[in-house]
Amino acid sequence: MKNVGLVTGASSGIGLELARIHASKGRDLVLVARREDLLNQFKIELESAHGVKVFIIVEDLMVPGAAQRILDVLHQNSIQVDYLFNNAGLGGYGKFIDRNLSDENRMIQLNIIALTELTHVLLPSMVKQKKGYILNTASSAGFMPGPLQSVYFATKAFVVSFSQGLSRELKGTGVMVTALCPGPVKTGFEKAAGFNESPLFEKAKDAHSTAKKGYLGMEKNKLIVFNELPLQFAVNWLLPLFPRKTVLWMIERLQTVK
Ligand SMILES: NC(=O)c1ccc[n+]([C@@H]2O[C@H](COP(=O)([O-])OP(=O)(O)OC[C@H]3O[C@@H](n4cnc5c(N)ncnc54)[C@H](OP(=O)(O)O)[C@@H]3O)[C@@H](O)[C@H]2O)c1
Repeated sequence: MKNVGLVTGASSGIGLELARIHASKGRDLVLVARREDLLNQFKIELESAHGVKVFIIVEDLMVPGAAQRILDVLHQNSIQVDYLFNNAGLGGYGKFIDRNLSDENRMIQLNIIALTELTHVLLPSMVKQKKGYILNTASSAGFMPGPLQSVYFATKAFVVSFSQGLSRELKGTGVMVTALCPGPVKTGFEKAAGFNESPLFEKAKDAHSTAKKGYLGMEKNKLIVFNELPLQFAVNWLLPLFPRKTVLWMIERLQTVK
């Protein structure tokens, strides 16, 4: 396999579109997610449409040790990963006090720990071969606190911060790190997070254009990529001007389910 892109959360949404774009460039893939049936359908689609090789790893990234298990499978099959798309992630709607603590822990395991560990186990071989790309799907949520999804927003703040720090540490190694920071996108996310008719998703963007912006940004070695210009402007130039408590009020309103 060559120019291999490993995509976590490749069975739907943004991850599926990242994989489609990667394959359309004639690059091979490793697809990771839990839903094996969807991954198998997708493998057939990509191999016949683009003539690329697609390898599937069915793995639950919320179960501790997932990164090491993935590394073992890659070694057993002599697969070198050149592009890492740390994309799998999950939200969780509701007041922190009302939410199940084990659900919050599982979210942290997926959004933070699996992403960090997978990066740590795959990075040495990228540095050794003096090239590699890491695209972390963060969120615009990573730039602000998020009442009614307090833990989710905090996990994405981790991803934004970690991606930037790591990018600087890797300067001169040939390995690039980019954080994709979308606003609301039409995927399975809304339902999985427990949102029901929140105004937040009324003007959600589509997964393909979001993935395309992320992929192009990664190839251009951008540090942070938003999927909407107005959002980029608001996050960088408007939000910092508002008092913190006003920001909290605005985000709570946006996230409140009618
Ligand atoms: N949609 C939005 O509004 C939005 C906005 C900003 C950022 N994001 C971020 O975008 C990323 C992708 O989400 P999406 O919007 O494309 O949602 P999605 O359609 O629900 O996709 C989530 C993907 O993650 C995988 N996944 C979930 N739990 C997993 C687990 N325990 N182990 C392995 N894979 C798991 C799912 O596959 P399986 O169920 O098959 O395992 C699926 O492929 C997430 O990190 C999310 O936080 C989304």
